[in-house]
Amino acid sequence: MVDDLNPAPRLLMGPGPINADPRVLRAMSAQLLGQFDPQFRGYMREVSELYRGVFQTKNRRTLLVDGTARAAIEAALASLIEPGDRVLVPIFGRFGHLKAEIARRCGGEVVALEREWGSVFAEEELEKAVRQHKPRLVAVSHGDTSTTMAQPLTELATICRAHDALLYVDATATLGGVDLPVDSWNLDVVSAGLQKCLGGPSGSAPLTLNGRAEKRVLRRRHTEQGLRTKDDPQGDGPIIRSNYFDLAMIMDYWSERALNHHTEATSMLYAARECARILLQEGLAKSFARHALASKALTAGLSAMGLGLFGDQKYKMPNVTGVYVPEGVNADRVRRAMLEHFNIEIGTSFGPLHGRIWRIGTMGYNARQDAVLTTLAALEAVLSQEKHKVPRGAAVDAALSVYR
Ligand SMILES: Cc1ncc(COP(=O)(O)O)c(C=O)c1O
Repeated sequence: MVDDLNPAPRLLMGPGPINADPRVLRAMSAQLLGQFDPQFRGYMREVSELYRGVFQTKNRRTLLVDGTARAAIEAALASLIEPGDRVLVPIFGRFGHLKAEIARRCGGEVVALEREWGSVFAEEELEKAVRQHKPRLVAVSHGDTSTTMAQPLTELATICRAHDALLYVDATATLGGVDLPVDSWNLDVVSAGLQKCLGGPSGSAPLTLNGRAEKRVLRRRHTEQGLRTKDDPQGDGPIIRSNYFDLAMIMDYWSERALNHHTEATSMLYAARECARILLQEGLAKSFARHALASKALTAGLSAMGLGLFGDQKYKMPNVTGVYVPEGVNADRVRRAMLEHFNIEIGTSFGPLHGRIWRIGTMGYNARQDAVLTTLAALEAVLSQEKHKVPRGAAVDAALSVYR
């Protein structure tokens, strides 16, 4: 027999997942309900309403896609991209490549616009690309966790409106920690995951879409045989190639009609509900300020240690920080020592940045003073053990003075 489950008490200070808020873990242990139980349907309605608050939207279609954040990305792209559609994907990190790859699998004709990692796109570059390529859809990350950069979106949304392109935004890494007012910024479809600033586990992906996007999806509504009645209007557009990620059917499932699709992931819905409740009880503005403060304290501490910050700091996400690995230091050995001696996880990085930067997350439940200070103290001790000279005590002092 294998042992009882007994995970180490890690402090997860990487780019996500982070430690779930204990309230979320408690909510997940609540008893299950059937998916058509009136009480459960009431919880689904509450979830939609709570996430309208989180997304700062009035969108009727605000729901959860069951799966990790990429499930919602895939649902959005599979449902919005018709084979042959031109899709513009501005890529400034790994998650831009992910959207380009999913868009291609959906049959989109992808125009990939690439930028050096550590920077973001200038508005004029995006405007020029939209004018030139006339995409039906633009798919972009808000924050790309791989590079810790956040792309400004307001102008892009205006450009998309002016050229009749839909704008899909992957806000997995920012929702709840960074301002993202979906309606006032005119974002058509936005999705996220729970495991970052929302302080939950991965496995449920909140998504919202406005009327413009809904229209495009409903053009492709093909209700499953066996459920369809003669009164169900069917779209004349091409069928959505994925059944599981068919947003037309998922919207019908979440609607008052409750047309059967998948079996809602009950415990994940409880988790998502509690994540949103915690965030809205704190208040969006306070949460954004808490994330900004944690970032300021962390970066002050890292700089006091003599470490260099990665990327254009003007566009740095406030919830994840990229920091250069000093010359002569083995990045993976430091991460291992942080884990073994302090039970603290910090992040490695992908592709061209692997071994060159660490990524430290200060988000959701972990965007807290004690978590920031403990991480800095541990990193300082480990770097010293690795024979890298650091001014002892300076990092914690610098971070503390930010908090004071
Ligand atoms: C910006 C962004 N998009 C998408 C994803 C994929 O999320 P998941 O691993 O939950 O599918 C991540 C995960 O880190 C992310 O940071």
